[in-house]
Amino acid sequence: MLAMMGAMDEEIELLLADLQEREELARPGGVLYRGVLDGVPVLLTKGGIGKVNAAMTATSLLTAGATRVIFTGVAGGVHPELRVGDIVVSTDLVQHDVDVTALDYPLGTLPGEAPSWTADEHLRAVALAAAHEVEGVRVREGRVASGDQFIASREGVQRLWTQFGAACAEMEGAAVAQVCAKAGVPFVVIRSVSDTADHDAQVDYRTFMPLVARHAKQVVRGMLARLKVPAGA
Ligand code: ADE
Repeated sequence: MLAMMGAMDEEIELLLADLQEREELARPGGVLYRGVLDGVPVLLTKGGIGKVNAAMTATSLLTAGATRVIFTGVAGGVHPELRVGDIVVSTDLVQHDVDVTALDYPLGTLPGEAPSWTADEHLRAVALAAAHEVEGVRVREGRVASGDQFIASREGVQRLWTQFGAACAEMEGAAVAQVCAKAGVPFVVIRSVSDTADHDAQVDYRTFMPLVARHAKQVVRGMLARLKVPAGA
């Protein structure tokens, strides 16, 4: 089953409002909603903020039968050309707050783990096609950098750009990617830029969240239309 997940209420409430035949599955850390959206059977949930919550919720989704995972939400833009309202479709994901360099592991890499996790090619293509349909929005593919930090400084942005080549910064995607990759479940992360992760980030984030959450919702609806299996097929 297709699963969709966000970190915060604002990131899933627009989808939840339209979920038909809604059932609630209580799980540690939160509720999974099962139902039908635009004719597609889906699981939908809010995972909470940060990598641990994201990993836990992704695991719950997989246990409940998720076979593809779309993470949707907002991010701070890191690529210099990104502006508020733009959409980033993940190529791959890294954990920018991991540092085991003292033991000679590359920055961002945990011992025994991949240095990054690549999003599914088909889901990426579908996300890109859907994103290009959202009016007035610019779309970019790129690396998503996740960490348990809200980035709100020029230095922070510069670090993620030079050390990781990140397009945007958020707090969950790589954890979802790591869980899905280990389970062999295709995933993609779609992020609307709510701020440019600099000194105005806190203000922009709160101001633009409702607008960019709508963009993210439109991308997911466009994806559902493309992923729909015709009845009887
Ligand atoms: N999510 C939205 N904006 C962000 C930022 N600047 N840093 C981390 N996560 C974010």
